[in-house]
Order: sequence, then C-alpha cells, then structure tokens
Amino acid sequence: MTPPDRHFSAFKNELTALYGFKPGFVFLDLTLGDGGHTEEALLAGCQVVSFDVDSAAIERAIGFLSPRFTPLVIDPETFTGQIPANFSWLIIRSNFTQVTSVVQKLGLPKFDGIMADLGPSQYQVLAPGRGFSFSVDEPLDMRLDKALGVTAADLLAVLNEGELFDLFTLADEPFAKPLARIIVQQRQKNPIKTTKQLADLVSRVKRHASGKIHPATQVFMALRMVVNLERENIRELMSQVPDLLKKGGLIGVISFHSGEDKLVKEFFTLMETEGRLSAINNKPIEPSDRELLISQRTRSAKLRLAKKII
Ligand SMILES: C[S@@+](CC[C@H](N)C(=O)[O-])C[C@H]1O[C@@H](n2cnc3c(N)ncnc32)[C@H](O)[C@@H]1O
Repeated sequence: MTPPDRHFSAFKNELTALYGFKPGFVFLDLTLGDGGHTEEALLAGCQVVSFDVDSAAIERAIGFLSPRFTPLVIDPETFTGQIPANFSWLIIRSNFTQVTSVVQKLGLPKFDGIMADLGPSQYQVLAPGRGFSFSVDEPLDMRLDKALGVTAADLLAVLNEGELFDLFTLADEPFAKPLARIIVQQRQKNPIKTTKQLADLVSRVKRHASGKIHPATQVFMALRMVVNLERENIRELMSQVPDLLKKGGLIGVISFHSGEDKLVKEFFTLMETEGRLSAINNKPIEPSDRELLISQRTRSAKLRLAKKII
C-alpha cells in the first residue's frame, strides 16, 4: 500500500460550524499531522497554535498549506524570544503532554477551542521507514518521536507472555493468548525484528480467523499504542484541558479505537461531576456518509465535544 498524498482529516468540513471559527478565535490544534484542521481554522481567520511531536509531520503540514500562512516554528526548550500578541500561526515541536508548561513559558492566552485528533496520521502509518505497517518489510520501530527509547521490536523482545497478552488485549485482539505464547517461543530461535516477520507469524496463528481486515491489524495497533504511550498521553493531556480553555470554550477529541473513546468519555464524565466541563452530546459524533465515501479509515472515528462552563 502506498502512503496517501495527504491525510484525510476526519470531521474537517464540520469544524468551522461546530467550533464557531471566526477572526479572533484562538484555536489550539494539539495534533497538527498534515494540517487539515489547522488549515480550516486559519482559513476562517483564527489565531492558531499547533503541536506535533514529529518533525517530519511539521515539515509536511507547512508544505500543504498556502504560503500565505507562514508559521513561527518553536522548539520550546530552546526558544527565548517573545510571541507577538497578534501572532497568526505558531507551531510547537513538542509532545502535547507538555502543553501547560509551553503555554505558560510562551505567555499564550487561553483558548476558545482545542482539538486532539489522536493516533498517527495515515501518512505516518504507511510511509516507508517508520515501521508501522505490515505492507512494507522493515524494522519494527513505530516511534512517532525518535526521542522515545523503546521500539516495537524491543517490546516483542522483552515482555513476558502475560505482558504480551495484556498488550494485545488493548486493541481487542481475540487471539492474544496464542499470539503471546508463540512470540515467546519463536523469539528464542529468532528475534522478531521486522514488520514482515511479525505479520507472517500473526497470519499463521490466525489462519482460520475470518474478517475483512488484515489479521495483523490489531497486533500492530496495540504495539503502536504502547510504543507511543498513547493512553498515558491522553490521560496526562486531559487533566490539563479545562485550565487551558476560556469560559465557554470547546474541547474536541477524535479517537479511532473504543478504548481511547472510553478514556475520553470517562474524563468528560468526571469533569461534568466536578462542574468544570459539560459534554455536548452523550453519544460521540460519527462521520457523515459523505466522509465515509471518501475515506474508509474514518469509519471508526468518533468525535466527542465538551464545553468549559466555569
Ligand atoms: C491523526 S494525526 C492528525 C491529523 C490532522 N488533524 C490533520 O488534519 O491532518 C495525529 C498527529 O498527531 C501527532 N501526535 C500524536 N501523538 C502526539 C503527542 N502526544 N503529542 C504531539 N503530537 C502527537 C502525530 O505525530 C500526528 O502527526
């Protein structure tokens, strides 16, 4: 499979109406990716702050947007300048878990709207050299941020059978038990270091399984989630969100897996009991038929929105 030219941004066409983008609106896009959501906000005249932990994603996003939007790209650890109050687009090269300290360090205002579109982009998953995909044979890496110390191959080498079982269960892999067992047996003979080795092993264990998706889909997803600390990052981010928003401001989170959506829902419920946020809908918003026609990947996308009430 070749990588898409540009990531298909879920709910992009609904964003302006949902958030009420207009000139002067201050928008925080915590997951820049290929820049679809940021672009929508910039086109509506918003001031935008975009985070991404992946330097390659930042370069791509800048390339996709019209040259009339020129960002100031900031490495928070080394930046010492002043941010002008009328900035139009800032890109922050950082993990979104650092958002509060970055906002404080740069003296940024509170936000009218925040978006987190979780997980890697379609481009990151399918691009060669990243080790996310079973469709190219390469080292099993999967780190979005090269500063992370542990790759997917490292996890397969060191986790014990019980830990591998727990890991595969994170992505609802029904064959988690036999897979954990065979990986532990197999790695004694030959370490599992490449995407093809792992995909072949999973396909062998699941040869009688039925389904429309590739048999290794859930195993690859589970490894990606753990390598990139995705669940931990969501928890760490969520606790910071209410204090970043203006009163009446909106947080939106797009997730692609039921486990992630559950975390977001639990957080919104907790914030509601504390009287800090109010969920906009009980059920998450799902992609329109039009979106599904354009991108099948969005079939599992869920958008939850909540408003800051105090
Ligand atoms: C699904 S893509 C976002 C796509 C984007 N909304 C668009 O319209 O093109 C997610 C992006 O978030 C980045 N990302 C994932 N986890 C992150 C984190 N903890 N901190 C900062 N960026 C992160 C990824 O590198 C990726 O570029």
